[in-house]
Amino acid sequence: MDFSLMLNAHRGFAYLILLTTAIFIIALVMTMFGYSGKITKLLRKSTLFTMIFFHTQALIGLIMLFFFSPGFKAALEAGELMTKKYRPTYIEHPTAMIIAAVLLTILNKKFKTNDKMQMSWVIMAVIALALMFWAFQWNRLFGG
Ligand code: HEM
Repeated sequence: MDFSLMLNAHRGFAYLILLTTAIFIIALVMTMFGYSGKITKLLRKSTLFTMIFFHTQALIGLIMLFFFSPGFKAALEAGELMTKKYRPTYIEHPTAMIIAAVLLTILNKKFKTNDKMQMSWVIMAVIALALMFWAFQWNRLFGG
């Protein structure tokens, strides 16, 4: 297994996550503003798929980070991991995404086993989305 293969897989799954997350947001808003507050099939499915892709990303990401990433190794050796240049990618991105993955896992369980939406779950979903959009490597995926 080589690094560029893993990075490309990680990039591919990032696009998929953007797609399933968009559907998740639409389904969440529809549930929130629907009169009944009923958890729809679309919300259940979009939460499930977003969660699965997040777990896959976590696995690929952690393996890259600790075993393959030349950037992470170089930053460590230079003692520059906590600088503005490296911290967003190698510290903030993995940490925030793992927290988001945990929140999504909890949400998936809640949506699977309940029929009605609760405000606390909406808040949890908003926190997960905020973490994800904050830590997403926008520049590296779309920029130059
Ligand atoms: C959940 C745990 C995750 C971990 C531990 C992780 C780890 C990493 C690491 C170490 C890198 C830098 C690789 C390098 O250049 O050496 C990276 C880059 C990236 N990650 Fe993640 N990641 C995670 C989740 C995610 C998720 C959920 C997404 C998408 C929604 C994502 C999208 C990206 C993108 C787009 C890049 C930039 C790729 C590039 O530079 O070409 N990551 N990730």
